[in-house]
Amino acid sequence: MNLVILTLFPGFVESFFATSIVGRAVSEGLVSVKVVDIRDHAADRHRSVDDSPYGGGAGMVLLPGPLGEAIDTNRSERTHCVYPTPSGTLFNQAAAHRLAARDEVMVICGRYEGIDERVIEEHVDEELSIGDYVLSSGELAALAIADACIRLRPGVIAPESLAEESFCDGLLEYPHYTRPEEWRGRSVPPVLLSGHHGEIARWRRQKQLEKTARNRPDLLRSAALTAEERESLPAPGERSNDGRD
Ligand code: 6GU
Repeated sequence: MNLVILTLFPGFVESFFATSIVGRAVSEGLVSVKVVDIRDHAADRHRSVDDSPYGGGAGMVLLPGPLGEAIDTNRSERTHCVYPTPSGTLFNQAAAHRLAARDEVMVICGRYEGIDERVIEEHVDEELSIGDYVLSSGELAALAIADACIRLRPGVIAPESLAEESFCDGLLEYPHYTRPEEWRGRSVPPVLLSGHHGEIARWRRQKQLEKTARNRPDLLRSAALTAEERESLPAPGERSNDGRD
């Protein structure tokens, strides 16, 4: 996968790709990352990249000129162009799988109030939001999207790890424990020490159902559950979710 990230803060973005699992994927050549400084495509000697919005209002909007040049210079016919914005469609694990299957992805980091709408019309294939809150920087959203996609590429993470994590079967993950068997008076659930694989699997599935019902009841609507599992769930009114659903 070739990833191109357009930003006004290239140092910040580069530092992320030099670290952790994602950094290893880059240094092993499993993905290539190109960070482009939008300011390098500015047309004037002040290197301007933004201006106030037509029609008035707060904040600054990225000029279409420099951003359009940065996109033209760095995209090909087959590049999928993503613009992270709070007004996009929701980025979730299914969207991460879809994006991770592409060969060339360009991500545009907006700043201030956003980017000129005509750049979206001209170039953007997909507007994505990473959740219902507002970040001051498109960079954090772009890096969240990049991380979620890169870890799904072959060779980055062991397939066994991906198979058991949250969302892979539409449910949240079961709880994990490691040594010691007792910590501050809290014991590891005995079934995990039993060596009985069938019972461990049943217990973990039950914990997934309980946690999903408690924290994310919205996920249960589309999760693949057996009739018996669905029956075992507390009725929606009985679920404690702190008023989040
Ligand atoms: Cl993609 N960008 C910004 N700035 N804020 C966000 C977001 C994106 N998604 C949620 N909040």
